[in-house]
Amino acid sequence: MTADLNYELQVNLQERSYPVRIGFDLLSSGEQVCPWVAGEQVFILSNEIVAPLYLSRLKEALAGLSVNELILPDGEQHKNLNSLARVFDALVAHRHRRTTTILALGGGVIGDLAGFAAACYQRGVAFIQIPTTLLAQVDSSVGGKTAVNHPQGKNMIGAFYQPKLVLADLSLLTTLPEREYRAGIAELVKHAIIYSAELFYWLEQSVDELNKWNPDVLAEALYRSVSIKAEIVAADEREAGLREQLNFGHTFGHALEVVTGYGEWLHGEAVAMGMSLALQLSVKEGWLEPEQSIRVRSLLEALKLPTLLPSGLSADALRTAMTVDKKSTSKGLKLILLEGIGKARSTT
Ligand code: NAD
Ligand code: GLY
Repeated sequence: MTADLNYELQVNLQERSYPVRIGFDLLSSGEQVCPWVAGEQVFILSNEIVAPLYLSRLKEALAGLSVNELILPDGEQHKNLNSLARVFDALVAHRHRRTTTILALGGGVIGDLAGFAAACYQRGVAFIQIPTTLLAQVDSSVGGKTAVNHPQGKNMIGAFYQPKLVLADLSLLTTLPEREYRAGIAELVKHAIIYSAELFYWLEQSVDELNKWNPDVLAEALYRSVSIKAEIVAADEREAGLREQLNFGHTFGHALEVVTGYGEWLHGEAVAMGMSLALQLSVKEGWLEPEQSIRVRSLLEALKLPTLLPSGLSADALRTAMTVDKKSTSKGLKLILLEGIGKARSTT
């Protein structure tokens, strides 16, 4: 996958501001990474799927620096305290100092884990996100939410901790399975649905190109979608209000993941299904015109995302699972619903 266009945007958080660079072949030389490395030492965290594909390329880009790496097994089940301890053990064993920089090379699992390790090691060291899934490029690498899972709940132990740089190299997506690509598209579209009618209409026009992985269109879509996330994070870093809207579809989606057992649905697929359920509720509550709901659902379907609950799945089971979601409050279950295309609002 190649194209000429490169984009850059800024996440504006005063002294913690950082650039998000979006483009192609960004790892082909050190100039895109090395200026953001804090000192002489670098620690790369990756996994057994991504490392054989891209680790040597990254290490070549880091030539001249002192580099160590830890390669974890693949999968959400390894986003836990045990893996975190392995990261700290390796950092200590290789005598990484406060001036070290942790680089996340992987999808959201590696990014969330590496970010939390960076937040904790020696009370905080620099870290750089090099996301290798579309979901991580459009969502998880930006905004500073870092965490590991507890056996009792996803992302239970974590911190808000911003990276110094996000390098979203679309060339790294050529090896991504189609299903993972679609899961990323769900989060990309979500930003338009909740915040920008203009982007939504442009995505409607771009469906065929997105389905074909047209690199130029994908790069522009990523840039426009991440710009929305960056704007929301800059306005509400710690999710006191506006940032909650990024959870559109997530309460329903998490319930689906719980009821079906984690792993059957990819997170992005569950979010697409969850957005479809949130649309239905938005209409039922009288917030959203039925035609608008149909229009949003049509876009999801055109992008080959799931919008219909599989037969045999009980709505009651989903409702029960939703009441134990992290986003329930003392006032009741907090849901993000739609008032119009590009306009979301919380129920409480
Ligand atoms: P993931 O990290 O598990 O990656 C998905 C799969 O793709 C894995 O098997 C991975 O090894 C593989 N992979 C990664 N890059 C590849 C490449 N270039 N080529 C081939 N295979 C590749 O999952 P994800 O969807 O990237 O992220 C999900 C995680 O992100 C969850 O843990 C979720 O909680 C978290 N998340 C965090 C935030 C946030 O704001 N921090 C937001 C959304 C999701
Ligand atoms: N992925 C939701 C958020 O970053 O707030």
